[in-house]
Amino acid sequence: MKERIEYLRQQLSIHNYKYYVLAEPSISDYEFDQLLEELTKLEKENPQYFDLNSPTLKVGGAINKNFENFTHLYPMLSLGNTYSEDELKDFDDRIFKQLGHRDYEYICELKFDGLSISLHYENGILARAVTRGDGTKGDVVTDNVKTIKALNTKLIGEYLETLEVRGEIFMHRHAFDRLNQQRELEGESLFANPRNVASGTLKLQNSMDVAKRPLDIYLYHLIENKETIKTHFDSLTAMKNWGLKISEHSKKCNSIEAVFEFIKYWGKEKQHLSYDIDGVVIKINNYNQREELGFTAKSPRWAMAYKFKTEDACTKLLSIDYQVGRTGSITPVANLQPVLLLGTTVKRASLHNANEIERLDIRTGDFVYVEKGGEIIPKITGVNMEKRDQNLLPNTYITHCPECHTALVRADGEANHYCPNEDECPPQVVGKIQHFIFRKAMDISGLGEETIQLLYAQGLIKNIADLYDLKFDDVIRLERMAEKSAQNLIDGIKTSVDIPYQRVLFGLGIRYVGETVAKKLAAKFKTIELLKNATYEDLLSVDEIGVRIALSIVQYFKNQNHIDLIQRLKIAGLQFVNTAKELVLDSSMLAGKSVVISGIFSKYSRDEIKQMVEINGGKNASGITSKTDFVIVGENMGPAKLEKAIQLKISVLNEDDFLQMIGK
Ligand code: IVH
Repeated sequence: MKERIEYLRQQLSIHNYKYYVLAEPSISDYEFDQLLEELTKLEKENPQYFDLNSPTLKVGGAINKNFENFTHLYPMLSLGNTYSEDELKDFDDRIFKQLGHRDYEYICELKFDGLSISLHYENGILARAVTRGDGTKGDVVTDNVKTIKALNTKLIGEYLETLEVRGEIFMHRHAFDRLNQQRELEGESLFANPRNVASGTLKLQNSMDVAKRPLDIYLYHLIENKETIKTHFDSLTAMKNWGLKISEHSKKCNSIEAVFEFIKYWGKEKQHLSYDIDGVVIKINNYNQREELGFTAKSPRWAMAYKFKTEDACTKLLSIDYQVGRTGSITPVANLQPVLLLGTTVKRASLHNANEIERLDIRTGDFVYVEKGGEIIPKITGVNMEKRDQNLLPNTYITHCPECHTALVRADGEANHYCPNEDECPPQVVGKIQHFIFRKAMDISGLGEETIQLLYAQGLIKNIADLYDLKFDDVIRLERMAEKSAQNLIDGIKTSVDIPYQRVLFGLGIRYVGETVAKKLAAKFKTIELLKNATYEDLLSVDEIGVRIALSIVQYFKNQNHIDLIQRLKIAGLQFVNTAKELVLDSSMLAGKSVVISGIFSKYSRDEIKQMVEINGGKNASGITSKTDFVIVGENMGPAKLEKAIQLKISVLNEDDFLQMIGK
């Protein structure tokens, strides 16, 4: 039975991958549903095999094969928008004319650059989260939205029985940068901006993956039928009192001049926010006045968005370069006639991949629009077709690596082309060595990225194993290398042989094997031999190792060059055995989970419960924080703790729930 359950879980994740990532399903939807149904049934009959990561689980692991649709109770309208202060003045004049007096006030808010969401609370509990969709109908993405730490799924205080709140989901720039850095390390294509990630993330099929991409939310609109609240300002206060996150930057403004001040302030200050805004929203505060003003077919007459201009420029595309990354991925880069944009001269812009060039139909010699939005790197947004010389030819994408001339490959379903010559293509070789010495891998002190470039250029290193053959006399000959630095470098390399196995494994730079995956692999396969001999199925059986990673590892060890390299590193004394003392795990169903225990238990002692958490891979923590995954409560749990757990929307389990969860 256990085998069948595991087999079904594995099959379902393979088919999900083929369906959603490769877009190449190998079974029909019906067959998929049959497998899912069988697994659901078996899991129900055999609770002892409960697994938090099972594809059948709803919260924190839900696979929403197709999102359910929901018709908005009130359409999600857009706002009239403008880039001009004159038009905003016209908006104010219309309001004055329609109301017949100047006794009105505005609330000015930031216009968050994310995606709008509608949340339905029933008896204080989040019942449904729906995307805007086409404004009339949206996708139900409740499980995914529940992963947002800042969102209270249970209201506090005195709330209305049923209510709907709307707001914006977004990602902070630092989280976006971290995500892209991580993707770069793992050889994945990069996201263009935080808004795209936020919107893509909400549509992910597995809410476990959503949870790994930290999203945030601001609520800015309340819909309630009781009409107990009379102004927008009061609605914001009410939402705040219910535990919902609202922006602290909303401001009452008594005149359009005060609105202009707000706009001017945020036009400058926006760069200091940790997230992107693309303008300011101006709303009439009083609900009666809103009603008087009414709606047009598309938007309310009582609100307006003022959008900040993203400055753009038109310049000539001189040529397209192709850059080769550490993992061999090719990025086309536009060389532009230098042009001034927001105070800096822009000469280059990323074109992302072949699809983007095709989408823009961009041709060398074209005049292109360059824009600097929230992002630092300028982007090409389009071609000025009127200025196109009719003799220009469509771009032909390169077929061979610009660095080593190997024929490029492009896997089905992937946007990027790759150079497969990973062991000899110069930027890949240098990139791999740079990755190896990186802080989170071998962290070799005294050795930086530039020195690696120099050592490679001098023919002193061609791979990571060559580092361990370097002599003081080799290094001292490098440009600008002082005696002390040379010695530091040699010492740094020497001491790096003690770096633990899991970091060496990460340093090898196996595609898709990031820091966390390397840790998981080192824990499961205690020596590199065991990992080398692991089959595709062995690898898949490890928690969080999916098809893509498993394939990449198998592929890596098929290459004799890699085997030879590891052999040389072994001889140099590097660690290829996991010597860390570890608990013998019963299961890893609580892997990565932080658990808090509180109160007195009837069947087991607190220490025994703690031990059970640990032998199932979980961590015991003392206090409840937003990082806590769940709390196990016994008798006499302190009320303050319980309230905190509820406020932070952390699941609370009793002793029996927990025992059932771990199959006891
Ligand atoms: S109010 C009926 N307030 O901008 C009024 N919208 O085109 C509902 N947005 O779809 C919207 N920040 O996604 C409002 N402070 C804010 C906003 C905001 C961003 C977005 C929202 C909406 C779009 C308007």
